[in-house]
Amino acid sequence: MADLSQKEWDRFEKPEHSHVYKQIATVMHKGISQEEVAQFYSKWADDLQYEKELPEDVYNAPIVTAAAAADGMTAEEKASVRVFDVAAGTGLCSLWLRSHGFQHIDGLDPSEGMLAKARAKNLYDRYICDFITDKRLDINDDTYDVLTVSAGLGEGHIPCCALYEMVRVVKPGGRIVIVTRAQHLETVEEYRDRLEPLMDRLEVEGKWQKLERKIFPGFFLDKEGILWKYQVC
Ligand SMILES: C[S@@+](CC[C@H](N)C(=O)[O-])C[C@H]1O[C@@H](n2cnc3c(N)ncnc32)[C@H](O)[C@@H]1O
Repeated sequence: MADLSQKEWDRFEKPEHSHVYKQIATVMHKGISQEEVAQFYSKWADDLQYEKELPEDVYNAPIVTAAAAADGMTAEEKASVRVFDVAAGTGLCSLWLRSHGFQHIDGLDPSEGMLAKARAKNLYDRYICDFITDKRLDINDDTYDVLTVSAGLGEGHIPCCALYEMVRVVKPGGRIVIVTRAQHLETVEEYRDRLEPLMDRLEVEGKWQKLERKIFPGFFLDKEGILWKYQVC
């Protein structure tokens, strides 16, 4: 289940770090189904354990995602644009988006338990309990100015084909920010030699244009993150 050797386990400074690593390893194990993923997160959300176990010094994906979404936008733009937070979870990314001045944010997540925590904090205008895949969501074309995905990729998580649906619901000129663990590009079969080639193909087809791609530290403990930022054409 956990993709760690004993040597790697020994390196954790705090016992709670090995616990949260086990949680992540469980929800991202090879062969996990979409439904099992959603159920696992619903249990993890109980008593806000998910948030307690992933403080900023352990997990910075929502911070990095929101900062990249806000970068280059004026205060007026941020106050008026519509944002779609995909894989919203308990709403950590919405909290950071709001701190940057975004005010109109909808959220999608297949885990009812995770979304319930976001709902209790009134973090989204609309709550959509669903998976993003290649299936058409109940959202019109060109609805959003900004789409964010903070850590929604992994084993059994968002599939490559969902990129089409993301592009469809964002307006021309709007931006899409996707952040995940960098390691996933190699370890997750769904993404290996598929995710970035598809991103490139969408660019060649004139669907979007890459603004940024960067590797950053602190995504999750000592694991690096990768961020892509695209502008929809
Ligand atoms: C690590 S959590 C990230 C939550 C939040 N964005 C954050 O940064 O705290 C991953 C989330 O992805 C959601 N998820 C998994 N598969 C998904 C899919 N196909 N579509 C949308 N969300 C999905 C899970 O339910 C879970 O809430």
